[in-house]
Amino acid sequence: MSLLQAIQSGKVPAHVAVIMDGNGRWAQARGLERAQGHVEGVKAVRRIAEAACKAGVRYLTLYAFSTENWDRPRGEVDALMGLLVSCLHEEMPLFMKNGIRLRIIGQVGSFSPQVRQAMDEALRQTEGNTRMDLVLALSYSARWELTEVVREAAVRAASGDLRPQDISSRTIDGLLATSFMPDPDLLVRTGGEQRVSNFLLWQIAYSEMYFTPVFWPDFTEEMFYESIASFQNRERRFGKVPEPGRPLKADKA
Ligand code: IPE
Ligand code: IPE
Ligand code: MG
Repeated sequence: MSLLQAIQSGKVPAHVAVIMDGNGRWAQARGLERAQGHVEGVKAVRRIAEAACKAGVRYLTLYAFSTENWDRPRGEVDALMGLLVSCLHEEMPLFMKNGIRLRIIGQVGSFSPQVRQAMDEALRQTEGNTRMDLVLALSYSARWELTEVVREAAVRAASGDLRPQDISSRTIDGLLATSFMPDPDLLVRTGGEQRVSNFLLWQIAYSEMYFTPVFWPDFTEEMFYESIASFQNRERRFGKVPEPGRPLKADKA
């Protein structure tokens, strides 16, 4: 049995979130410009998006550009923007063939009109696809997202639409940029760092974490399936105690 078949015989995580890290170091280790690592990184995005579809993942969220990444050297940011635009055009056949609906979470207003136009076009073209949502976190940071939630709640409270005593964690879920999908079951980070770097801080409260030293451009389909196999070997307790013979429900706490 292949690893893909093995994981398909178990419970496949509905939502996998990935911190795609290590492009720059991948390039530097080869004496190349960091931007070259991002070019290779796009190939890995294609590979893993298809692998996730095959495995039966319903939501794949990729951390592609953080709010803090704007502070990188101008040349690197420009290279990333160029890649983003070309990727949104060139990967359209892949999205359509695999039934992938593109979504974007992040501060889209901070992108140039050219980038926003490419985003709008890709969102519109794929909005009828239903097999998997590919969620790109772009100019995203969890603290930005949570600040927006607080601001929106305050606006609604001030206008009388929301009573402070009615604010619950569900209210917050509903105001997040990720309100259309469940929390990640599995969070994968490539590139060797064991940190979250301002990604989905609220939503990963009970996500299983998987860290690998492999740089993102080297991350293969098989390695992605290994992360799912690791997920399947864990017992999610959500703070509870398992009763003998009655496994805990692996849904949201
Ligand atoms: C991740 O790779 C991609 C982005 C943040 C855009 P990095 O560019 O952070 O690569 P390293 O971590 O420097 O190797
Ligand atoms: C996290 O990687 C952001 C993305 C993968 C887009 P970074 O390389 O920006 O994070 P740090 O600097 O290692 O925390
Ligand atoms: Mg990095």
